[in-house]
Amino acid sequence: MKTLKIGLFGFGCVGQGLYHTLQHSTGFKTRIEKIVVKNREKLRPIGQEFFSYDKNDILENSDINVVIELIDDAEEAYKIVSTALKNGKNVVTANKKMLALHLETLLALAKENSVSLLYEAAACGSIPIIRTLEEYFDNEELSRISGIFNGTTNYILTKLASENLEFAAALKKAQELGFAESNPESDVEAFDPLYKTIILALHGFGTILKPEQLLRFGITTLKKGDLDFASKNNFKIKLVPSIQRLSENRLSAYVIPKFIPKEHHLAKVDNEFNGVIVEGQFSGEQFFVGRGAGSLPTGAAVLSDISALSFSYSYENKKLRQLQQPTFSDELKINIYVSSSKAADLEIFPFEETFEDFKKNGFYYRTGKIGLAEIKQLETVVRTRKIFVAEIFEQH
Ligand code: HSE
Repeated sequence: MKTLKIGLFGFGCVGQGLYHTLQHSTGFKTRIEKIVVKNREKLRPIGQEFFSYDKNDILENSDINVVIELIDDAEEAYKIVSTALKNGKNVVTANKKMLALHLETLLALAKENSVSLLYEAAACGSIPIIRTLEEYFDNEELSRISGIFNGTTNYILTKLASENLEFAAALKKAQELGFAESNPESDVEAFDPLYKTIILALHGFGTILKPEQLLRFGITTLKKGDLDFASKNNFKIKLVPSIQRLSENRLSAYVIPKFIPKEHHLAKVDNEFNGVIVEGQFSGEQFFVGRGAGSLPTGAAVLSDISALSFSYSYENKKLRQLQQPTFSDELKINIYVSSSKAADLEIFPFEETFEDFKKNGFYYRTGKIGLAEIKQLETVVRTRKIFVAEIFEQH
């Protein structure tokens, strides 16, 4: 077992969660040497002697061999993590945005410098999905990874449907509970689950996707009429990222709200919980559920990575190293629902087939089949016109 000397960046929600888990873990003991934070004025719950405001106190300290990066500024995090890797330090990070934007460079840096870069906490909080994909599904070809990857939006959607809370009030609660990003637009506009989708596509399929390739719709345009549609049809609305193999060498990936039958296991994942469905060629469907956000569950995922480092663990990225990886394609057709307060808004969608057209009291919706590529082209106009777009569940 290696002796770890830890330097921590950031002491917010996850940093404090990690500190707590380190203090109270009976299975694994180690301690933090230094914590670098930005704000000198903030009152800290632990002794001032731990803190520094100079990143070189960690990055240039040759005693420190593990850097834990838990700040929320992705570009600053990238500078810290890339310098740490270049300086021969192992890194644990929870920064999904930084990872999704810089995966290729960071993997190369870790390899060149023979160090580990681990990030279980960056996807689906406490669910050990990255290591499961890396270690268990390393050999099996997957056909799909989908589920609920964002705790904040799942919490909001749960409260809107079951407690009649207003959107703003539900978001405020999610912020108070430490689930939301510092800029919650990342949650509600579905950037956060998109970044997690990119991370899981790497470990599940060996494919490095670019954020701009993926269709992304969040939940800010959800209206009362959409909730009524859900309850009338015995659906729940969830924000569901999906990575789907279309053929041996093509996959599609997108993030969209989805109407799911209430009795389906994913529909039963509520509040800040996440659920991940992994479908393998031989194993069939597996379903993983756990807390997707929050100080302690996320801190526990970081702790598990630190513990793994003490046994010199690193991701092998076996699927990335295979001869051929599936590349991105948007040739998929899906069943969708679009709604607006203006009838004309529905006419912009080139449906191949229409299932239902509805209008009542200034509320309009249409359901039907459409190509992913066709909706992708409408992404900007859909956002500007505040049209709600959701996928409708289909049994595979
Ligand atoms: N804001 C994120 C979420 C935190 O709500 O899922 C965990 O990644």
